[in-house]
Amino acid sequence: MHSIRRCLALALLTAVPFAAATAADPIKVGVIAEMTGAFADFGQQMTTGARAYIKEHGDTVAGRKIELIVRDVGGPAPDVSKRLAQELVVKDNVDFIAGFGLTPNALAVAPIVTEAKKPTIIMNAATSIITTKSPYLTRVSMTLPQVTAPLGDWAWKNGIRKVYSAVADYGPGYDAEAAFKKSFTAQGGQIVGEVRMPLTNPDYGPFVQRIKDSKPDAVFVFVPAGESAVGFMKAYAERGLAAAGIKLIATGDMTDDGVIDALGANALGVITTHHYSAAHVSPENKAFIAAYAAIDPGHRPNFMAVGGYDAMAMIYSVVRQLNGNLDADKAMALIKGMKIASPRGPIEIETDTRDVTQNVYVREVRRVDGKLYNVEFFTTPNVKDPGKEAVK
Ligand code: PHB
Repeated sequence: MHSIRRCLALALLTAVPFAAATAADPIKVGVIAEMTGAFADFGQQMTTGARAYIKEHGDTVAGRKIELIVRDVGGPAPDVSKRLAQELVVKDNVDFIAGFGLTPNALAVAPIVTEAKKPTIIMNAATSIITTKSPYLTRVSMTLPQVTAPLGDWAWKNGIRKVYSAVADYGPGYDAEAAFKKSFTAQGGQIVGEVRMPLTNPDYGPFVQRIKDSKPDAVFVFVPAGESAVGFMKAYAERGLAAAGIKLIATGDMTDDGVIDALGANALGVITTHHYSAAHVSPENKAFIAAYAAIDPGHRPNFMAVGGYDAMAMIYSVVRQLNGNLDADKAMALIKGMKIASPRGPIEIETDTRDVTQNVYVREVRRVDGKLYNVEFFTTPNVKDPGKEAVK
């Protein structure tokens, strides 16, 4: 008797994941994120941003509770990312997949989300090509070509003529390198040297020395936000490039709000282009910063936190419009053309590419009320990803 009851209980348990979702079930969002290791900031920022949205807007939409299921991918680990996506689909029966700080982790899940028809929202990973890999992929963050192109123009207009390009040796680095070269040389600028630096455990000293020896007007840099940026800035300061008159210009990954304090005074005056600064002045950003602080009072949100927050805004909008009755193809149709009043400014998801169109700001690191901030001083409005044009 005892064992029969146990068998029944087991059968019921195993049957549950395969039961069709009902209105009473939560909407499950599987988040694949870098929660540990050298890129742990990425996962922290994305998930805290997502939770800030839930806290601010309530955890129930159209009668359905929203549940985040966070899985740690550890670092740049495409195989792990793939396995986690499979598990989220098969075992957890998620309605959406989201997350992805790093490009290789995002690219790895494309075949799975296509096969399983899971709307998948990239919260950060920024190599242009990602959204072309599945009709179920969309992105609320940025692309490297999008945020880099305006910097080439700015550099030329501000008297910079010779630039050394230094990027991380993987997808977003190649995109940044190509986009900077294109916009800067189109104006007449010259690339006097280029280097691709390792993504993991980089020692920037020797690269920075070589840059110094070639005496450019400026070095253009893309390295992933966080520890890499801190490491590059340290080498730039220690090898005396600023003193030698070599300016540092970069995408905003270099001076992101999560680590700007750790960069210290060396960062003052650094010019970057990006889609989000915590110093952005708008009611939406004020609300976002307050919601983030309510969850994680010790830290400042960065662009990855905004990605997490806006991914939830997208999910809430879809669930609301479908009145809680989810359907993957209907969800994707609603995502195409969606507009969100983001903390960074207005964003729109382009229908053809499912990628994000947004303002790109030129910023300078300045001290505001005793703290370092990326102060926006010039806006290029409504920039589409130019990377898509390049591959057409
Ligand atoms: C990426 O891997 O796509 C990536 C990671 C960190 C960044 C930007 C892009 O800061």
